[in-house]
Amino acid sequence: MEQFQGVISRAGERQVFMGEESMGIWEEPGAESGCKLERNEVAIEFCAQSRNESFARMVAAAYTAQLNPTMEEISDIKTAVSEAVTNAVIHGYSGGDGIIRMRLALSENEVQIEVTDHGVGIENILIAMEPMYTTRPDMERSGMGFAFMEAFMDELEVRSALGRGTIVRMKKKIAPGV
Ligand SMILES: Nc1ncnc2c1ncn2[C@@H]1O[C@H](COP(=O)(O)OP(=O)(O)OP(=O)(O)O)[C@@H](O)[C@H]1O
Ligand SMILES: [Mg+2]
Repeated sequence: MEQFQGVISRAGERQVFMGEESMGIWEEPGAESGCKLERNEVAIEFCAQSRNESFARMVAAAYTAQLNPTMEEISDIKTAVSEAVTNAVIHGYSGGDGIIRMRLALSENEVQIEVTDHGVGIENILIAMEPMYTTRPDMERSGMGFAFMEAFMDELEVRSALGRGTIVRMKKKIAPGV
């Protein structure tokens, strides 16, 4: 198996790591996955088209509703999902054909969202995460997508390998309602 690069960003700190196993985050040995009652995992696949961005955003919002989130929490999740899916469409597949997979799961009072593409991949994730860094200034991108995902979610993990694709996994704690 070829190497992939990963970055985990949590509470303003970023950690880089390399992996040799499959890039799939939830497929790793020992990782929790599948239809455990408390995880209630859901996955959808859709064509990499910008018209599916709002669909993905609404699915994530509807899924998170089971944790009784606030309007603000829902809005944060929608923004983060939009950014991840837009990136897969315009960078991963450069606007061409491709499939995007979004997985959703719960752990305690937390929602986990994973967006995967099998596109071009990212050469250097840390650099790509820098605010204002964009490889598409021609498309009037501002380079703020990853910065928004970091700001609106509690944890952001990105794994990528050139020619293989990119996995973006985000976690957000949802405060229990009263
Ligand atoms: N799924 C992906 N596949 C390949 N490259 C990606 C992917 N997601 C991000 N990138 C790379 O990371 C860079 C930074 O992404 P980010 O979302 O922060 O900014 P942007 O998409 O360029 O601009 P904005 O999100 O503000 O419109 C992108 O310009 C692109 O080079
Ligand atoms: Mg972006």
